[in-house]
Amino acid sequence: MRIERARGTRDFLPKEMRKRRIMEERMRDIAERWGYEEIRTPTFERSELFTLKSGEAILKEMYEFKDKGDRHLALRPELTAPVIRMYINELKMTPKPTKWYYFGNCFRYEEPQKARYREFWQFGTEIIGSDSPEAQAELIALAFNILKSLGVKAELHVGHVGLIRERLRVLHADEEQINTVMRLMDKEEEDRQAVIELMDERERDEIRYFLGALSDLIDSKDKDALQEARDRNIFASDSDALKELELLLELLKDYSVDYTLNLGIARGLDYYTGMVFEIYEAGGMLGAQNQICGGGSYRLAALFGGDDIPLTGFAFGFDRLAEIFSVDDKDLERRGVVVVPIRDKDADREVMKEAIKIASRLREFCPTHIDLMNRSLSAQLKYANTRHDSFAVLVGKNELKEANVTLRNLSTGRQYIMSVAACVARLKAYFNRN
Ligand code: HAM
Repeated sequence: MRIERARGTRDFLPKEMRKRRIMEERMRDIAERWGYEEIRTPTFERSELFTLKSGEAILKEMYEFKDKGDRHLALRPELTAPVIRMYINELKMTPKPTKWYYFGNCFRYEEPQKARYREFWQFGTEIIGSDSPEAQAELIALAFNILKSLGVKAELHVGHVGLIRERLRVLHADEEQINTVMRLMDKEEEDRQAVIELMDERERDEIRYFLGALSDLIDSKDKDALQEARDRNIFASDSDALKELELLLELLKDYSVDYTLNLGIARGLDYYTGMVFEIYEAGGMLGAQNQICGGGSYRLAALFGGDDIPLTGFAFGFDRLAEIFSVDDKDLERRGVVVVPIRDKDADREVMKEAIKIASRLREFCPTHIDLMNRSLSAQLKYANTRHDSFAVLVGKNELKEANVTLRNLSTGRQYIMSVAACVARLKAYFNRN
């Protein structure tokens, strides 16, 4: 019976895995150099971890189940809530800020399409203990540094949900109304009009004016747009959120990160309280699913039983990056050595024993194969050719008497008889160079 993969999941063949490994290593390397330390949390968690903030509605987007002990569990749809849970459970007393990064698979029960999967990977970071503009700017700059190392061209949109919530509160919108507005913020103009209709009669005019003015700040490439909004009194002039956003934009300039101000960003997850950002792929390779990174400042710690510390973080959609990332095919081929025992009946064991010894020495520095199929010399070489190996070391009874082997260059066909020690040294020099 042929069994298909589960919907929305993928298999990764060796070449794709090598590409993903190259990406992962570059991303880890940069995160480490920026002073972030790696952590890992479980693949499944108690469902409450995700429903506490977002409500039961999120259950339909999750892989959620009951285990044999009747506990409600869920495969993690993201890693921020698990990371904060872990911090509170394990490490509340560490000096702040604590800077962590993670790489792991996530699961969402979504309609699969190009670049949207039910199992996907995130590479993310969290700063625990700060949501200052300095922390926000560092994270965004780190994200761009990672993108640069992958050769990905991208566009940054920065918004601030705190700024909008704060203003709506002043206009006496209740929390439910504010949440409705936030959910529709990144939708079309007409949808925003529909929200206004939901508002209390008394407040409508002011809110309509505010949402209209806000439209000018959605997708604005104009660096002075915020100053203009300030001049037009769209936000209170003493607003802390406004000051914070202004400072962040300054700091982004210091890091030479270009941005688009987009106060329409509302983000799908409910925990954001301040600055929010999204990064989109700029080359048009991903179609509709072009958001490659999302993040912002948020509060979750008090909800999970800790102090209400400020938090800032982001996560890359690793699979989306993998679709854009291109690498030379040459770098994906894993050229190695094949050790070829030339066996005739009575020398079988002796030749094989020597071949295993040589292979063990080569495996200290390069990918090495040895025959597992009891094949003839020509069949072994044919196999090496299809795999694009660089060298063959032929181990035969006669040469072994002199402690020699034949080293054959599989690209040129040239071959030399030499001592085992010389052969190992020659290959070591070659693989260290390449
Ligand atoms: P998110 O925007 O939901 O944020 O996910 C982050 C990234 O994961 C997205 O930008 C997207 O590239 C990728 N992604 C999301 N869903 C899928 C999917 N079904 N298939 C492929 N890729 C997907 C978060 O998850 C937050 N935890 C980010 C964060 C960290 N905020 C603060 N700290």
